[in-house]
Amino acid sequence: MKLKNSISIQPSRGERIPVAVLGSTGMVGQTFMWMLEKHPWFQVVAITAGDSRNGQCYHESIKWQLPVPFPESLGALPFCSLNELADAPPPVVFSALPTGIAGQIEPQLARSGAAVFSNASAMRGRENVPILIPEANPEDLNQIDRQEWGNSGFIVTNANCATTGLAVALAPLREFGIRDVFVSTYQSVSGAGYPGISSMDILGNVIPFI
Ligand SMILES: NC(=O)c1ccc[n+]([C@@H]2O[C@H](COP(=O)([O-])OP(=O)(O)OC[C@H]3O[C@@H](n4cnc5c(N)ncnc54)[C@H](OP(=O)(O)O)[C@@H]3O)[C@@H](O)[C@H]2O)c1
Repeated sequence: MKLKNSISIQPSRGERIPVAVLGSTGMVGQTFMWMLEKHPWFQVVAITAGDSRNGQCYHESIKWQLPVPFPESLGALPFCSLNELADAPPPVVFSALPTGIAGQIEPQLARSGAAVFSNASAMRGRENVPILIPEANPEDLNQIDRQEWGNSGFIVTNANCATTGLAVALAPLREFGIRDVFVSTYQSVSGAGYPGISSMDILGNVIPFI
């Protein structure tokens, strides 16, 4: 795939692209680790989480939450600090950070030359940062040529989870000139991340206008 300044994100023969996973212990981060473990293009070489885990390795620190097997081959990876990584990132970074910290660190990573793909909302809507839903707006990737982080780095975000499915369904209908769409969404408690909301607060309850 040709991306910024014709940089190609594609593995060379027999070699996977080194990547980092930020927020690797959270709900989204665990999903990244599971999906990347045997990915034919990407090799996870660096992981981060909260500072208190620095120095430990993934398997001794993680409380695995997903209903799929733990990615054993990544278990010995040590956590590194975000600042360390921001100075010398691998070419591709997948971010599952909380929004506040993502807004600080993702621009630093792009300035250091990384291709940053983020699940956080911090950079959504920034000038020339595409909110990518591949099935709906792949052409928006062209915006990254206009990002100015100083070198080959760039940031791409995914869309809000409640809108992604809707946009995929509506995209083919654009040519019919949709004007308004009325939607109600119901989000699972896991959408608040692993620390999430206390079970005592949510049991038998709903939170409107989340
Ligand atoms: N859950 C969902 O369904 C969902 C869906 C779409 C997008 N998102 C977005 O994806 C991001 C991650 O969500 P999540 O649900 O996976 O959250 P989460 O379960 O709370 O995980 C957050 C991750 O970030 C790390 N972290 C927290 N504070 C940090 C700090 N100050 N510095 C460095 N690392 C820190 C945590 O490490 P520790 O474990 O060490 O604290 C953990 O690895 C958020 O921006 C969220 O809005 C979530």
